Amino acid sequence: MKEAATHIAIDGPAASGKTTVGRIVAHRLRFLYLDTGAMYRALTYLALRSETDLDNERALVRLCEYDPIRVKLDLDAPNGYRVFAGTQELGAELVSSSVTSGVSTVAAHPLVRERLVMEQRAIAAEGPVVMAGRDIGTVVLPHAQYKVFLTASLDARVTRRREELQASGVNVDAHRLREDIEERDRLDQTRATSPLRPAADATTIDSTDVTAEEVAGKIIGMVLGA
Ligand code: CDP
Repeated sequence: MKEAATHIAIDGPAASGKTTVGRIVAHRLRFLYLDTGAMYRALTYLALRSETDLDNERALVRLCEYDPIRVKLDLDAPNGYRVFAGTQELGAELVSSSVTSGVSTVAAHPLVRERLVMEQRAIAAEGPVVMAGRDIGTVVLPHAQYKVFLTASLDARVTRRREELQASGVNVDAHRLREDIEERDRLDQTRATSPLRPAADATTIDSTDVTAEEVAGKIIGMVLGA
């Protein structure tokens, strides 16, 4: 019987470092890294572009039927993959403030999740993966061999996200950013379908006072049995 590929699920609240940590782990282990948030962001971008009501679940599903959201492996791309909506490649659009403000509304719809989760599972079926999101350990890959719930204080998360945005040339007000992060966490934790919460068998890591390198080292240690 074929041995199951190793799957590492990393869930956690907004800006807790999932992407930074996930990328390091995937790179060191030579696994694929998939940031599922990028898929919800891509659909939100499509909805805003076409002026689709973010509460209209069926219209949102139609949008991803018309312009399928796909993640293609590309080891030369900064993240190790590229995100497409139909034939359009998406980059900076995914982290615009309008997309960030709308994404939790889009991600709360069960039919939207059903569709994108199907795609995420298909990617995992192809081999070893580090997958980051909100419901990876609980819903998308409940049999993942390693599950991490990554947290950090709100202050640390606001500071990190602000620095990330500044590094890409976007200046944001810290107060506004804090409110956005709190509101997104609230919506993600309280939605009826696949709310953000740690899986019962997840290891919680608080990254407030530790570097992404250290967190990644801990996860790699779990996998390699160090
Ligand atoms: O990087 P950041 O923490 O800002 O968020 P993200 O991972 O890009 O996710 C953006 C939004 O997508 C989240 O706030 C959730 O509303 C949604 N999301 C989700 O519902 N389920 C996932 N597996 C991943 C993201």
